Amino acid sequence: MQDTTNKNPMENIDDWEENLKERYPEETKEGPKEKTEEEFRNYIDSERLETVREFYKINHTYQTYDFVCKKEAEFLKFDKKEMSLWEAVDFLNTLVDDSDPDIDLDQLQHLLQTSEAIRADGHPDWFVLTGFIHDIGKVLCLFGEPQWAVVGDTFPVGCKYAETIVYPDFFKENPDYSNPKFNTKYGVYSPNCGLDKVKMSWGHDEYLYQILKNYLPEPALYIIRYHSFYSQHREESYTHLMNEKDIEMFEWVKKFNPYDLYTKAPVKPDVKALKPYYEDLVKKYLPDTLKF
Ligand SMILES: [Fe+2]
Ligand SMILES: [Fe+2]
Repeated sequence: MQDTTNKNPMENIDDWEENLKERYPEETKEGPKEKTEEEFRNYIDSERLETVREFYKINHTYQTYDFVCKKEAEFLKFDKKEMSLWEAVDFLNTLVDDSDPDIDLDQLQHLLQTSEAIRADGHPDWFVLTGFIHDIGKVLCLFGEPQWAVVGDTFPVGCKYAETIVYPDFFKENPDYSNPKFNTKYGVYSPNCGLDKVKMSWGHDEYLYQILKNYLPEPALYIIRYHSFYSQHREESYTHLMNEKDIEMFEWVKKFNPYDLYTKAPVKPDVKALKPYYEDLVKKYLPDTLKF
């Protein structure tokens, strides 16, 4: 078999999010929101759709229980780089896409659009900060990790893959799919054991959670850790693994999701004007440097 593990099928690390908006269109009082011209243009771009499919094919094939254990051992030593949050933001922003810069926002712009929308709705400051930092874990790409091990929907490994995960058929190529240790409803877990005991597919969510777990309020940590877990926060397919605390905290994960998904307007936020507010916010919650 040809080795595809280092392949990066998508031109832009965030192309999979277009597919997310197709799966979960924004709701208005009148029903699903009409596509803007730009969204429509992205949607009919079948080449993009094909690369997203290819991306999930590799993701679903290689995200096994053992793979996650291996990545945890490699990255949770935090010996890659020590940076302030601002250095991490600048570092993340060096992630250059091959796709159209007129349509696509850079990473800092996505973060600021998310957090500014949260701020405009009058939410607490830790929620605004969470919006601002939620994707910093994508620096994994800059440590040489392939797209399929950084972004995309996340899901539990070590138990049966839910049918509600995007492109479920691709899991048939995953060795855990036919391993009786991992392919039952509970797999290596027990009923309502709590998500903290459940290994999620490896990506930017879990990585950033592990970096920040001592610094932010609990709902913020849940948002960071599970914001790509669509098969639970949208589909509720893994409630049997959750405890009461998880269920309570997922209300925040659900509250966060529309800000992440639907605030990508092509209007670019004024970074310079916003920076002082965010500098204070970062200082309030985070230490001078973080270990990646
Ligand atoms: Fe994300
Ligand atoms: Fe995001």
